[in-house]
Amino acid sequence: MIPVCRIEDLPIGESVRIEIDEVTPAIAVFHTDEGLYAVDDLCSHQDASLSEGWVEGCFVECPLHAALFDLRTGAPSCLPARRPVRTHEVSVLEGMVHVRPAVREEAVA
Ligand code: FES
Repeated sequence: MIPVCRIEDLPIGESVRIEIDEVTPAIAVFHTDEGLYAVDDLCSHQDASLSEGWVEGCFVECPLHAALFDLRTGAPSCLPARRPVRTHEVSVLEGMVHVRPAVREEAVA
C-alpha cells in the first residue's frame, strides 16, 4: 500500500494526484460523499488529468472534453471517452489514506 496523505488533508469533494514511480501511471484519489476512490489519473480519451476534473457524486468529469467516469468502476458513461480507466484499492489506516495500485495487464503478460 502506498501512503497518500492524512484523511483530514483530503476533504470531501477534493482530489489528489500521486506519482508512484517512473513506470507506474499516476493515480488520482477522490474523496466523495460516498467514500474514497482511486483511478488512473490520465483520462482514457486524451492527455488530461482526472484529478483536475469536477466530482459529482461518484463521477468525475474530465476537465478537457467533459467525459464522465464512474469512480466505482472506472467506466465512462458518455463520449468522447470509450475506454475505462483502471480503478485502485483505497483504504484508511490510522488516519492515513493508502492506495494499492492495480496490477497492469501488460506487467503480468
Ligand atoms: S481528454 Fe478526457 S474526455 Fe477528452
